[in-house]
Amino acid sequence: MALFFRDHSCSAAVILITLVQIFYIIYSYTFIPPEEFVDVKEIRPIRPIVLKHRPLDGYVVNLTLINKYCEPELYDVDYFDTYNIQDCLDYLDERESEYLVKSPDPKIKCSPDSVPMLFHVYWRGRINDKIALMIKSFLYTQPLDCSLLNVWLDQNQEDDFSKNPHIQPLLKFSPQNFRLRRWNISEQLNYDPIYDGWEEKINQQIPTVGYSDLVRFVLLYRYGGMYIDADVLFLRDMRPVYHLNQEFAYRWSFWLNYNTAILRLNAKSTIVRNVVENAMQHKMNFHPFQIKYYLVKKQIVVKQDLDDQLYMMPTTLFDPLWLKVDLQLSNQVMKPNINGFHDAYKPTVVNEEFPDDKRATTSMRNKKEFFRGAFTYHWHNQWESSITDSSWFGILQRGYDEFINGQSPNMYNEYINEFHEEIF
Ligand SMILES: *[C@@H]1O[C@H](CO)[C@@H](O)[C@H](O)[C@H]1NC(C)=O
Ligand SMILES: *[C@@H]1O[C@H](CO)[C@@H](O)[C@H](O)[C@H]1NC(C)=O
Repeated sequence: MALFFRDHSCSAAVILITLVQIFYIIYSYTFIPPEEFVDVKEIRPIRPIVLKHRPLDGYVVNLTLINKYCEPELYDVDYFDTYNIQDCLDYLDERESEYLVKSPDPKIKCSPDSVPMLFHVYWRGRINDKIALMIKSFLYTQPLDCSLLNVWLDQNQEDDFSKNPHIQPLLKFSPQNFRLRRWNISEQLNYDPIYDGWEEKINQQIPTVGYSDLVRFVLLYRYGGMYIDADVLFLRDMRPVYHLNQEFAYRWSFWLNYNTAILRLNAKSTIVRNVVENAMQHKMNFHPFQIKYYLVKKQIVVKQDLDDQLYMMPTTLFDPLWLKVDLQLSNQVMKPNINGFHDAYKPTVVNEEFPDDKRATTSMRNKKEFFRGAFTYHWHNQWESSITDSSWFGILQRGYDEFINGQSPNMYNEYINEFHEEIF
């Protein structure tokens, strides 16, 4: 009798769930989000916004083509009179069918039982809205069936994260998609004899060198994957660069130096071992400008020497605004056409932000049109600025929140679905 009753209630539940799903599907195809309504009522031409598709499993970027469009031949200011940085972004956004090529590695698959893409970010102190924004951008863009973000917390006294309003709404994604982990330097460095004698060396260097410069190499030496700085937002699916059979960082603006804000290394690889061993001989100096001398033992280093070791990706792929800011290239028109890192925080339209529309308002800022084509956006330390609703970051934040709450789809038109709610 008890058994019968259980079966009976079970099938009722199945019918109910099916009805809810049918309703949900109809709803999601017919419901127009209020935000789009507002756009339609605006008195201006409606620009069609092309939806993005996820890359196919096992497809990676062709570096020859990426460089052709995204690595300027010269870094002198005159050259930028004829070279458009936005052309690189347009290429990345519109020509995937040309530059994404099948990886020779047949094992790359995205499924819940595959080895996930492993990302690391390091954060010192309490979790605030900025680091939460970074985690949200990860959830919004990455394929959640095969991505994991480790958030390494240092000097963080929070013992109950559910009391922190910035991270609380995200806890349902942990531990499946991201993990809050404690950074403990003794535990990390005692783990491998390569760091023998670290206690003495580290005291000699810390004030001059960013601590996080060390952290990223220590984490990747042990776990492998991709390190991302906390002041970076994910803008698109990282698989086409993550799965390249190539370790990389990106170019420090127009200098022949690495920026390690994005750093892809395999655990215990020859390159990461080489960097760590050399840094141990140089007072644990992991400063990005030092890295090239560890990798190439020459007086005069050219880019090809570096690419043969740790590939130096074009700046614009991960840091689309940097060249414009650093070289003060006011003639470069970008999408969005902002001029400085602080502009992403501004609650009002900046001068010439929409060059074709003199009466532009912030309602024209669309979460789908923030440096389309770039893989990430690095905002360079604007930690003191606050995120206002109508700023670019405010608009992105609202988009992320709506996705996380199941109210609107992400950039790939995917909803947080029932499948995810079940496993959380
Ligand atoms: C990458 O693009 C270059 C230039 O078009 C081409 O010669 C090369 O074969 C491509 N590589 C792959 C793996 O498709
Ligand atoms: C850090 O790790 C060391 C060595 O594993 C351990 O003795 C110490 O208690 C840890 N510290 C904290 C704060 O957990």
